[in-house]
Amino acid sequence: MHFLQFIDKKIYRLLNSSKMLKFFYFYHRLFNNHSENIGFDFSKKKNRKEIIQEIIDKKNYKNYLEIGCFSDELFNYIKCENKVGVDPVSGGTIRKTSDQFFKDNKDKFDCIFIDGLHEYTQVKKDIDNSLNSLNEGGIILLHDCLPNNFYAQAIPRCQYVWNGDVWKAIVECRTKKNLDVYTCYADNGIGVIFKRNNQNLLDHSIENFKKLRFSFYFNDHKKLMNIIEFDELLKLI
Ligand SMILES: C[S@@+](CC[C@H](N)C(=O)[O-])C[C@H]1O[C@@H](n2cnc3c(N)ncnc32)[C@H](O)[C@@H]1O
Repeated sequence: MHFLQFIDKKIYRLLNSSKMLKFFYFYHRLFNNHSENIGFDFSKKKNRKEIIQEIIDKKNYKNYLEIGCFSDELFNYIKCENKVGVDPVSGGTIRKTSDQFFKDNKDKFDCIFIDGLHEYTQVKKDIDNSLNSLNEGGIILLHDCLPNNFYAQAIPRCQYVWNGDVWKAIVECRTKKNLDVYTCYADNGIGVIFKRNNQNLLDHSIENFKKLRFSFYFNDHKKLMNIIEFDELLKLI
């Protein structure tokens, strides 16, 4: 194993240990206490496995890339001619971080599912790299775009059930003229990015997306995230 991969693995395990999560939970309680809950209910919606497979089948996509595979729950479910899964710790087909993978990658994909490190800066890099590795007419999907409350998106991570601040990267993409961006109301929020003219540009002069506050998202999440149901999304594909 490469030395850097070994260090990545150790740091990942340390940050997700229950003691660290508890420590950061109390840290956030002390310094950033927010009690509001949006009340998203995903229980009656399709899950990511059904959604991604339906998109692949509808578009007859041949090349699937998954960033962050964990136990291969999704990766093994997906049926596609060519599947590549990238994860520095477990699952998939390539034992690298997404940055290491994209550095040397020359392949193009039709459907890319970003579900690796759920922190804004990394998600932004994963989106930019994915856009460069996307075939014409392809789609980028991102997991965990709709956190229900402050703690589910707090950085550093402070609980097991955690979406991270992926939502900030979606808000940023919503302000780009050359990207058409939605969030499907299903499975913790599935971000959807098409490389085409933005059909519903978010007109916001935000200087630093990383510094966006949870209250900003809480108050205006429907518009910021461009939330749609899966049926509506199918019509846009
Ligand atoms: C939420 S899990 C993925 C779940 C999987 N996609 C599914 O739907 O069943 C997140 C995974 O991302 C991986 N990961 C963390 N940092 C990463 C990085 N920089 N690049 C790629 N994967 C990363 C972790 O090792 C972990 O296995």
